[in-house]
Amino acid sequence: MKKFGTIIGLGYCLPDNIVNNNDLEKMVDTSDQWIRERTGILRRRILDREKPSSDMGIEASLKAIKNSGIEASEIDLVIVSTESPDYLTPSMACIIQGGIDAVNAAAFDLNAACSGFVYALTVADQFIQTGMYKNILVVACEGLSKVVDWKDRNTCVLFGDGAGACVLTASDEPGILGYDIGADGKKYKNITIPCTHFSEEELFKRKNKRDQVIYMEGREVFKFAVNAMTDSVNKLLREQDLSIEDIDWIIPHQANMRIINNSVSKMNFPIEKVIITLDEYGNTSSASIPIALAEAYDSGKIKSGQKIILVGFGGGLTWASTLIQWI
Ligand code: UT7
Repeated sequence: MKKFGTIIGLGYCLPDNIVNNNDLEKMVDTSDQWIRERTGILRRRILDREKPSSDMGIEASLKAIKNSGIEASEIDLVIVSTESPDYLTPSMACIIQGGIDAVNAAAFDLNAACSGFVYALTVADQFIQTGMYKNILVVACEGLSKVVDWKDRNTCVLFGDGAGACVLTASDEPGILGYDIGADGKKYKNITIPCTHFSEEELFKRKNKRDQVIYMEGREVFKFAVNAMTDSVNKLLREQDLSIEDIDWIIPHQANMRIINNSVSKMNFPIEKVIITLDEYGNTSSASIPIALAEAYDSGKIKSGQKIILVGFGGGLTWASTLIQWI
């Protein structure tokens, strides 16, 4: 009998430290008004400099496992989506696996930038469909404050830190109904964080400093994002033989309120049925979707039987969407 990957537990973690737009006015040439009007962000959470980002992933995971009702030892696999890992090796997944005592789990990281959580859910669901694994922990864990150039107003006002996690289990009932993941690697230079290779171009973009910080062509990513999210959701709906009216909630990647507004208006989807956390937490990259999902669930918005679309885009450039029927 066909198995579905079904979410049975959610958790998230945000650092306590709140940084308002006014705080950023003291650091770069920006204003609260510009940030609100151009992005919709009011504040973001920033992790203490000395703390590893994986701490947030561990806390989010422990909550998700507790809510799922299974034991950490029953988890077969830990997949962590991150573009801001504590180490290149070991993976964040190994650090989190150790931190939560998931002693029987295999562990690996996946990097699809801000689309990473939906990519990771897709990969996890494949392991469930083949029958290889029963319980999989999918985590998105991002400490972007550590890779942001705090002197670059084009990027530093956008990002925040956080982690979200879910336990996916093999079930006879849906579950994850379908997904669409994709990439356009020809556009890779639009968002970069160099690691071991600094081309002349990357050095130039970063004012000749070998800093491992984000560089982004915001306008290019903006144009890509609106089309990528709309096309991906439409493809998913076609494949599932559904129309947009069948969808109860859309949870988009939280990058910019104008991107969200433009995309859902192109999809003919009401903004009232879109989950928004961007104002409070900024762009937490791949963690933004699971944080928004967990918050919406905790607040009672998401109910059994509802159909939810998660849709993201980001560095790579990548995009990803999935359709879930809530159990
Ligand atoms: O999750 C990762 C994916 N990334 C994204 O989703 C980002 C997508 N892009 C965006 O969200 C938007 O493009 C931004 C928010 C990054 C920028 O907004 P924009 O409306 O596209 O602004 P722009 O880049 O066209 O810049 C307009 C002006 C420029 O000044 P001039 O050249 O017109 O004088 C910028 O220098 O705004 C200026 N500017 C700022 N001004 C005040 C850029 N950043 C700031 C700032 N404060 N923080």
